Amino acid sequence: MSINKTNVLVIGSGGREHALTWYISKSVQCGNLYVASGNPGTDKIATNVSFDTFQDLVKLCLDKDIDMIVVGPEDPLDQGIVDFIKNNDQTKHIKVVGPKQLGAQLESSKDFAKEFMAKHNIPTAKYLTVTKDNISEGESFLDTLNAPYVLKADGLAAGKGVLILESLQEAKSELNNMILESKFGEASSKVVIEEFLSGIELSTFVLTNGSQYKILPTAKDYKRIGEGDTGLNTGGMGAVSPAAFVSDEFLNKVEERIIKPTINGLEKDQIDYVGFIFIGLISVNNEPYVIEYNVRMGDPETEVVLPRIKTDAITLFSSLFDNTLDSIELDIDTRFCTTVMLVSGGYPETYAKGKLIEIANSISNTELIFHAGTSSQNDTIVTSGGRVIACSALDDDLKTCLEKSYKLAHSIKFQDKNFRSDIGQDVLNLI
Ligand code: AMP
Ligand code: GLY
Repeated sequence: MSINKTNVLVIGSGGREHALTWYISKSVQCGNLYVASGNPGTDKIATNVSFDTFQDLVKLCLDKDIDMIVVGPEDPLDQGIVDFIKNNDQTKHIKVVGPKQLGAQLESSKDFAKEFMAKHNIPTAKYLTVTKDNISEGESFLDTLNAPYVLKADGLAAGKGVLILESLQEAKSELNNMILESKFGEASSKVVIEEFLSGIELSTFVLTNGSQYKILPTAKDYKRIGEGDTGLNTGGMGAVSPAAFVSDEFLNKVEERIIKPTINGLEKDQIDYVGFIFIGLISVNNEPYVIEYNVRMGDPETEVVLPRIKTDAITLFSSLFDNTLDSIELDIDTRFCTTVMLVSGGYPETYAKGKLIEIANSISNTELIFHAGTSSQNDTIVTSGGRVIACSALDDDLKTCLEKSYKLAHSIKFQDKNFRSDIGQDVLNLI
């Protein structure tokens, strides 16, 4: 008996989307698989397509008879891509994994997220939201805090809108710069001042339809460009799953104090939410606090989380829409998964593009290559972004797993390749 296959469209073009596409492509229920706009990695396992406007996307969905859309990045979610598809009579039947604009504010507005957490008693750092109308109140709030001082632009600022400052004077001056001099453009017309929390950070991921949820494997990512977490922030230089340094007891606290109140909060506030919630956590003396919400999977966390999920992707995603998520038992690979991100020399500042990439033909079945910033040029693959390729590996032993990721990282060649050599070392030392 043949089953009805599901035609899927993945939206995005980075390493996260290559990993999502790879995961979906393994589903026995997967029909035609498209990625907009994809990259040379997704091109090998799916069909790359493109669209300009949301209206073009509707046309694409109708042309390709799309049944399911999985949205990778936050920007289209914030721009209302899901609302557009759901408000159109011709496409409203499509199962879209991704929240509408209202829910996307959990990521696109720090103030919205903090207010949500305060309202639903979700543990997070003390805060005050400041605009041009209450800058002096903001300065007085800073006086009540201890150094260092955390200032966050309210809006999306490509991961750059958070300042951590050592001196009170500097914090007050940057507060003024952010609001009055538009340091981060419109994104910093509102600023959230936060108490600084000290501890180890980890990422948790939840898949939900706003009432039922599944907790996906945890991960730790490495945001800074330099070894020992030094230098500028990047999109992410590597990741390890699971974040094995936290106990089951800690994860129970996360579920009871953070995940359940978050899902209940969405319901109470009538925020219709289908998709991933990525909760950035910090463990302060073994107590979890939320640092941030993201309304999508992490990158490069996806490149270590999805290889550990053995449950069929389309069964899992479909269950969000017929309310059967609770009946699914997630099948998680007990092995570690690690990834090392190869980046262009100079990243996260200016870097060159168009460098020829050489990738070895054969890799083992416990190694995975996810393209992030690559493009095709006359039958070759060249660099086209700051983050270029994620080198993922699976193994029972974390040290061996990292060795496999590093072996891949060395085997892929392009001019001015850079990567951090200490991914996972802190986790190794903690477990
Ligand atoms: P966010 O964009 O909110 O995730 O912040 C970026 C990074 O700044 C986080 O990953 C943390 O390393 C750091 N950070 C943010 N908020 C705080 C806080 N309240 N205390 C300590 N570190 C923070
Ligand atoms: N790796 C962090 C993020 O995706 O936001």
